[in-house]
Amino acid sequence: MIVEPLSEALGAEISGVDWSRVFDQSTIERTKAALLRYHLVCLRSDRLSAAAYANLATFFGEPQLQLLRNARDPIVPVVSVFDSTYKNAEAKPANLQLDRRSGWHTDDSYFAIPAKITLLQALTIPSAGGETRFCNAGAAYEDLDEADKAAFAPLRAVHSYDTARAPARAAARKPEEEADTTDVIHPLIRTHEESGAKAIYFNSNRTDRIVGLSRHESDALLDRIHAHMTQKKYQYHHGWRLGDILMWDNRSVTHSVNMDFPVGEARIHQRILLRGKKPV
Ligand SMILES: [Fe+2]
Repeated sequence: MIVEPLSEALGAEISGVDWSRVFDQSTIERTKAALLRYHLVCLRSDRLSAAAYANLATFFGEPQLQLLRNARDPIVPVVSVFDSTYKNAEAKPANLQLDRRSGWHTDDSYFAIPAKITLLQALTIPSAGGETRFCNAGAAYEDLDEADKAAFAPLRAVHSYDTARAPARAAARKPEEEADTTDVIHPLIRTHEESGAKAIYFNSNRTDRIVGLSRHESDALLDRIHAHMTQKKYQYHHGWRLGDILMWDNRSVTHSVNMDFPVGEARIHQRILLRGKKPV
C-alpha cells in the first residue's frame, strides 16, 4: 500500500491495494488516517460492481440512501449512478456556471444531518475535461484573520435545497423529496468530530443566508467567504482515470465539476454517501 500526496492543498493517492476483495484492518485504518489527514483520497482501482462498491464503503461508515429516488441503483439502492454526459449540443450551456454541478458545494448540506463522506467512482470518462475540483475549507478557515475567526464563530447559516444566490437551479424533486428537504440551519464554522479541526461550512449551491443578517449584509459576507475559499491555493483538480474511487470528507472540503467536456462523450460515475452527524 502506497500513499502519495496529490497536491499542496489536499488529497493523496493510495495504490497497491485490490479494493474489490476483503481487506485487512490495517489497510482500512491507514486509509482512514490518510483521509483524515489529506481530506481526500484517490483509491486506484478497477471498476467495481455496485455490490462490491457498497461492500467497500461499509468499511468506512454506514451507506445511506440518496435523496433523489431516480438516481438510486435498482438492485443496490445505496449506490447512485450519475450520468453527466451531454447528450446533444443544446444540453451544454455556453456559460458553464448555468450547470448546477459547476457550483462549489459540500454534499447533502440541505439535510439536518449531512453525509460525512462521499465515495465517487468513474465508470466512463470523456477524452478531455470533466475534472472534479476540490477546495480545502479547513485551510481556508485557518488562514482567516483573528477578527474574522471571532466574528464568524457564532454565525449560523440557512441551507436550502435551492438558493437564488446560485446561478443554476437545483434538480426537480418529487413531493416526498420536497418533504424531506425543508430548510435547515448549520454553523458557518464547523468542528470536525474526529480531528477537532475547524472548517468553513459553506455551499454555494445551498447556503442561502446568514441567520440574523439582512439579505444585503448576508450576501456581502457570503460573497466574501466564497471568494476567499475558492482561491487557487486551496484547490486540487482531479483528472479522472477509469475506475478511480475518490473518497472525500464533506466536513472539510467543497467540490465542483469542470463541466467542459465534449458533447456526446459519456461521463458516468457511481456514488455512495456515508451517514454523518449533526454539524457543530
Ligand atoms: Fe457533489
